[in-house]
Amino acid sequence: MTDKTSPRPLNVLVMAAGLGTRMKSKRAKVLHELGGAPMIAHVVRAAQALEPRRILVIVGHQAEEVERAVLAEIGELAGFVIQAEQRGTGDAVESARNQLEDSDSLVLVLSGDVPMIRVDTLRKLIEHHGSTDAACTILSVRLENPTGYGRIIRDESDAFQKIVEQRDATDEQRQVKEINSGIYCFEAKELFQALRKLEPKNDQREYYLTDVPEIILTRGGAVTVFVHTEPREVYGINTRAELAEFENLMRRSAIRRLMTDCGVTFIDPAHAYISSEAQIGRDSIIHPNVTIEGKAIIGEGCVIRAGVRITNSRLGDGVVVKDHSVIVDSDIEANCSVGPFAHLRMNAILEEKATVGNFVEVKKSRLKRGTKAMHLTYLGDATIGERTNIGAGTVTCNFDGKNKHETIIEDDVKVGSDTMLVAPVRVGARSVTGAGSVVTKDVPPDTLVAGVPAEVKKRLK
Ligand code: UD1
Ligand code: CA
Repeated sequence: MTDKTSPRPLNVLVMAAGLGTRMKSKRAKVLHELGGAPMIAHVVRAAQALEPRRILVIVGHQAEEVERAVLAEIGELAGFVIQAEQRGTGDAVESARNQLEDSDSLVLVLSGDVPMIRVDTLRKLIEHHGSTDAACTILSVRLENPTGYGRIIRDESDAFQKIVEQRDATDEQRQVKEINSGIYCFEAKELFQALRKLEPKNDQREYYLTDVPEIILTRGGAVTVFVHTEPREVYGINTRAELAEFENLMRRSAIRRLMTDCGVTFIDPAHAYISSEAQIGRDSIIHPNVTIEGKAIIGEGCVIRAGVRITNSRLGDGVVVKDHSVIVDSDIEANCSVGPFAHLRMNAILEEKATVGNFVEVKKSRLKRGTKAMHLTYLGDATIGERTNIGAGTVTCNFDGKNKHETIIEDDVKVGSDTMLVAPVRVGARSVTGAGSVVTKDVPPDTLVAGVPAEVKKRLK
């Protein structure tokens, strides 16, 4: 029997070595994205919140990529174990024997393809385990449609007997609706002792971790089941159809939260694609086919028209983004107007009341208060002052074939249509460039320049 009187350290083991044959993909299953992050990232994030001593991830298929995805999410807390040949979930855990066998610890086993699990649930599982004398506690749930999952088989007195996989189950066993979530809490010593007895006696000739609880029972240990009530959290993703279904679930719950808790209007909630990390302020209106990805923050009273994509950007209050604009890694202050068909990227900054119109691209540039670029323009590596007007067809020629250069345009400038600004170049305050100018030299303040190359035509003061 297990002595649980003294608190023991917690280690988490995440099984993520499989290819996921049913995905019909070249990429390892746990790398497929859900809600903008690889599946495995969701799992290790939940594990990290438990503050365990270690998180060991069992890797095999595309080990390097999986390791990278894990490190990007939780960094140094992660350790990796290679399972060179995927001989089943029991074999996966076996490959961590050296790291864990001798420690008097608790091992929480998670599956890399069960990404919706919540920290709260894991805490309850661990708590439940600690309150019994069991060597193993299985997280189960009852499903309307249990097809595909391992079933929890109980005896007449309702005590746990064994887990039977779908493909090894009798017709009668397949009627059972209580399933194994693939999440377990084990006493490390008992787990690794039982693993020694594991045999690949099943339809797939694999070493099944699911046989371990029964082995623990036959060795005189205790096994309990923690029945969870939220089936969604333990859905395993095995196919593209399930992946799409989940993406949908996550998206719908993000939209529901924004409507209920934050007072956001969705014209057509079924056709909005909103990341679960997005924040949107009260009375903002989201039109159909809008995609909001990553950590986007959108203020109050904004209008986001159809076909817009906003990724990792911040929009202040009262911003209007017209149809089919793309905004990535950018910052837009209150009451700006963007689009239609505008592209803001790589730290484009629009200060209050700036306007960027039709077919305008802004890259790594700042447009100060009230400045306008309404039509067919490229602004890259530029700083543009207040109340300046950028005429149609203006281009900052920021690239000389080797390096990028800066353009500075000061306050209250009128840049004429079709002006080429050959960087590095500066246009002084209140100056004017004639239509079709090619500006190759700095323009002093209060000056009219025109021509190719542009020359001073007139002092304006
Ligand atoms: C497993 C369980 C099943 C449970 C279901 C819950 C077994 C035998 N069955 O089935 O009872 O209802 O999860 O979702 O455990 N993996 C490895 N190495 C391997 C094999 C698998 O790391 O050799 C990893 C996979 O990458 C995956 C996880 O283990 O992340 C689960 O494997 P999978 O093949 O998806 O198991 P299921 O058939 O879903
Ligand atoms: Ca699975």
